[in-house]
Amino acid sequence: MSDIISIKEDVYYIGVSDSDIRTFDIIMKTANGTTYNAYLIKTDEGVIILDTVKEEFSELFFEKIESICSYDEIKYIVMHHLEPDHSGTLPELVRRAKNVKIFISPMAIGMLKSITHSDTMDFEVVSTGKVLECGEKRLRFLSTPNLHWPETMSSYLEDEKILFSGDVFGSHYYDERLFDNLVGDFDYAFKYYYDHIMRPFKSDVLNALQLYKRCEIETIAPLHGPIIRSNPQKYIDLYGQWSAKSQRSSGKKIASIFYVTSYKNTQDMAQKIYEGMESIEGVIANIYDLSALDEPSMLNILEESTGILIGAPTINGDLPRPAWELLSCMMLLEKRGKVGGGFGSYGWSGEAADMICERMKGLNFRVPLQPFKIKLIPTQEELQACYSYGVEFAEIIMGKIVEITL
Ligand code: FEO
Repeated sequence: MSDIISIKEDVYYIGVSDSDIRTFDIIMKTANGTTYNAYLIKTDEGVIILDTVKEEFSELFFEKIESICSYDEIKYIVMHHLEPDHSGTLPELVRRAKNVKIFISPMAIGMLKSITHSDTMDFEVVSTGKVLECGEKRLRFLSTPNLHWPETMSSYLEDEKILFSGDVFGSHYYDERLFDNLVGDFDYAFKYYYDHIMRPFKSDVLNALQLYKRCEIETIAPLHGPIIRSNPQKYIDLYGQWSAKSQRSSGKKIASIFYVTSYKNTQDMAQKIYEGMESIEGVIANIYDLSALDEPSMLNILEESTGILIGAPTINGDLPRPAWELLSCMMLLEKRGKVGGGFGSYGWSGEAADMICERMKGLNFRVPLQPFKIKLIPTQEELQACYSYGVEFAEIIMGKIVEITL
């Protein structure tokens, strides 16, 4: 058992490293590789396994388990998260540990069946308040959904004061020294991970932090990257700070227009819509030229805006790239409660505004108004219609008029 790392007495790290991976889940860069963390708790009455690893690393995972216990000793498996990087080895583990019971969150039932393809598996659904007692160990379950899948949960090993946080507080950062006080500087990876994985779920992060607050945490054992034991509160506070709601609007609602223009016609529309929105009390209207905005700025503005309008001309029957890029980066945002819409000047076919609205609906925005299009140069009457469109949109986000969902 010489190369098995102990986190606390009878609590072991049985995770694996993926040091060569440079892109995770298609969109994330992993300059330092990553780890798939899993843990094992040994008690007088049996063994608890917490999570498994990606399937391609199963050989090492099972070697680690076998160096600590026999499969007959494994009594329970806790699955905090069922994404394949953590559940890939579960089917084989269940084949080897025949009398095991699996603990999952309520949302995980269907996924567990799809992963194991078994109808006879012994599993129990758990949520906050449920405690697993095994020998002298007490593992308390905490419901932390949507971090970052619907079925995610956390648990807390009471006497050892270890929080098993799932992907929360994770980093794609491999360093064989494993513990935060021994590894290199992983601050960039910790923030990058938050921005790409947790940021769209800020409200759920805040809910989870409320639950974590009830635990005296000495060690955070996440599913990726360093185990945090030197100053867990620092990382908890960072999540709180990054997830806090913006106070800038002081009770008002922010409505933002992002436009891209080729012959200034869409820009003229945007300006009039802006003036219409700004005329409504309680609304702070913003207007931005997309061609001069970088992604971090866009994300901050999008995040604090309740209403988001995108304006673009149609070029070759399509939406120009800057508008697609804006729509694409919205996957990194919490969309709950946001209202969207699309507009633009066009020459021939005018699909851009439709595409904006359809994409926003796909992102779960409310899109109460029809795509708003004007052929080529707006007339004075059409500019007045732009103003009215802005007024109507602002009144909808203020709840002053009843919207009709399209
Ligand atoms: Fe690390 Fe969401 O899987």
